Amino acid sequence: MCGGIAAYKAAELVRLLRKQNAEVQVVMTESATQFVSALTFQALSGNPVQTQLLDEYEEQAMGHIHLARWADLIMIAPATANIIAKLSYGLADDLVSTLSLAATCPIYIAPAMNQAMWRNPATQENIARLQQRAVTLIGPEQGEQACGEMGFGRMSEPATICQHLMTALSSEKISPPESKPPLSLLGLKILISAGPTREPLDPVRYITNRSSGKMGYALAEGALQAGAKVTLVTGPVVLQAPATAQLIQVETAEQMYLAVTARAQDYDIYIGAAAVADYSPAQAKAQKIKKQEQETTLVLQKTKDILAAVASLPDRPFVVGFAAETDDLEGYAKRKLQGKKLDMIAANWVGKAQGGFEKDENSLHVFWHGGDRVLAMTDKKQLARQLLGLIIERMNEKNTVKNPG
Ligand code: PMT
Repeated sequence: MCGGIAAYKAAELVRLLRKQNAEVQVVMTESATQFVSALTFQALSGNPVQTQLLDEYEEQAMGHIHLARWADLIMIAPATANIIAKLSYGLADDLVSTLSLAATCPIYIAPAMNQAMWRNPATQENIARLQQRAVTLIGPEQGEQACGEMGFGRMSEPATICQHLMTALSSEKISPPESKPPLSLLGLKILISAGPTREPLDPVRYITNRSSGKMGYALAEGALQAGAKVTLVTGPVVLQAPATAQLIQVETAEQMYLAVTARAQDYDIYIGAAAVADYSPAQAKAQKIKKQEQETTLVLQKTKDILAAVASLPDRPFVVGFAAETDDLEGYAKRKLQGKKLDMIAANWVGKAQGGFEKDENSLHVFWHGGDRVLAMTDKKQLARQLLGLIIERMNEKNTVKNPG
């Protein structure tokens, strides 16, 4: 823990982790102890709290090395701009920074600071450097700050952090793979959409988005590896499709709509990972639009909603949507789950430094009726397997397998 007003939230985090049977050792910087007393954390964690790098007793036993070897995971919450800068430059002048430098386990940070400090290019460069070294970021969230300002910089809620950590601790990266049964989708038919759509303006121009197809292709690959039959309806991407998937290449939202809705009833699961255009030009011009006036206006019309159409089919598959959001992730995702009558929705942040469009890594907050699960930041292939595992869990509960065996 570092010193910041969000330090009080760390007490709840320790309590939640202990409730999940995690063994917790708390290390506090000097300034953290000025916000909340070490005694509070000793009582909550059931372990002595470490605060000093040069403790005459601890250092005989090389306290920081011992702690670094002991931990399966290090979570720095709250992580101030100061500790983020220290970690990024490899400084080691207190116990938190020194043990982080000595650690070989995954490191997670939950930043908490004033919004201007968070936005400062120095902090953003430090964050980018840490992410390149696979330090995982949880938050920060947007909202009102202790200083009265609005913006990104609030530490994520303890329950959200706890969920991230428990998922990470139970993932193959940290616990031995044999502790989880292998994912089996044998006998299932899965229809997946991936990539962007292109909506033509004229023969040479189109409207599109940043989707690379990586998330949808990772799902196709994961499903095939787990024994499913997969049809991949894909917008234009530069990825190599898995050889054993049935590949249907489309360009526009209308073509994707036709390709998906013509097939969906024959499948057990439909996963809409594609970033489908919500609007397309009302009329694509037959000739190249000429440069004339200073300003021009595009008339756009709504495309058909593929997910909602699949979900309203009489013999529908288990329908999983995605939600790509830049704010109020949970609110919008839940509205899409309800509004489009989906079985499940996997929400991800877009437009942030980490995850979302184009990146190799992503994290998801998955919602279904009556539950949710956070899948922590990891590479899209691993994340796809985790999402497929969740889908199967939910389907088994609903008992909706159409093509057994
Ligand atoms: O492709 P990558 O670079 O790997 O990036 C992954 C991703 C960010 C594209 C992916 O994880 C993701 O979020 N996909 C959905 C993007 C999107 O269009 O989100 P949305 O919130 O605008 O749409 C919600 C859902 O409705 C999506 O499942 C979408 O496929 C579906 N939709 C949208 C419009 C439409 N006309 N028909 C649809 O079916």
